[in-house]
Amino acid sequence: MSNEARYPSLRDRVTFITGGGSGIGAELTRSFAAQGARVAFVDIAETESRALCDRVKEETGQAPLFIPCDLRDIPALQAAIEQVRGQLGDVSVLLNNAANDQRHAVEEVTVEYWDERMAINQRPMFFAAQSIAPHMKRFGRGSIVNFGSISWKIGQGGMPAYTMAKASVHGLTRGLARDLGPFGIRVNTLLPGWVMTQRQLDLWVTPESAKQIDASQCIKDRVMPHHIAAMALFLAADDSAACTAQEFTVDGGWS
Ligand SMILES: NC(=O)c1ccc[n+]([C@@H]2O[C@H](COP(=O)([O-])OP(=O)(O)OC[C@H]3O[C@@H](n4cnc5c(N)ncnc54)[C@H](O)[C@@H]3O)[C@@H](O)[C@H]2O)c1
Repeated sequence: MSNEARYPSLRDRVTFITGGGSGIGAELTRSFAAQGARVAFVDIAETESRALCDRVKEETGQAPLFIPCDLRDIPALQAAIEQVRGQLGDVSVLLNNAANDQRHAVEEVTVEYWDERMAINQRPMFFAAQSIAPHMKRFGRGSIVNFGSISWKIGQGGMPAYTMAKASVHGLTRGLARDLGPFGIRVNTLLPGWVMTQRQLDLWVTPESAKQIDASQCIKDRVMPHHIAAMALFLAADDSAACTAQEFTVDGGWS
């Protein structure tokens, strides 16, 4: 995006993104790299992630650091963060972006499935923040952005484990903001509306749901990944220095 805002405070800031290889995460990776931030990301989608690194290097001159990692494996996540510290230095921006919105019927959910949904949609956010907090304390400040969703606010069915995990993000944000605020670390929730990633278009967006978007959003343009990245950049930059423990919604006015 040639007309995107510039945030001088993001230059050289080590930024760690979960699920940064595709969807909204890919646009986060691209847009933070374009600000001159030193971006590292974890993802399970290796082919897409490596292709993204090539594209970002072509655009910005600097390849992000991609570490293959399944976030359900917390020791692997902790090791990835340690690798980032060794290669790039202390992380001062954490974007807890990864999630999986697989649909599930109430009667089909088992205990194992429920735990697995939390293991991707909820648990890594806390453990990434726990591992990176010491980096931010040494750095003297930091910004953590936890990705929520408007789905639970608008009463969406068909994926109760996902909507519960996403509602719980707000509790994590507010609790961490209180604990980490004295160290200059800010924690906020970013709630995307329905964002037209390739995955959403391939799996869930139908002619009927397109009509639903038109009826539900105040503005009729589609919400795109760069709209979400624009808010993440602001929340990561020093320009939002007084914003913490809050929710920021980018949904075209749906919720
Ligand atoms: N797209 C939307 O409409 C929408 C709406 C509301 C909220 N959100 C939220 O925004 C964030 C990004 O959404 P998205 O649509 O880009 O998601 P996505 O599913 O398209 O991408 C998520 C990324 O996380 C990675 N990932 C998934 N499981 C992983 C695992 N176990 N370990 C490591 N990486 C893993 C995927 O490979 C992918 O690159 C999520 O937190 C999502 O809940 C998205």
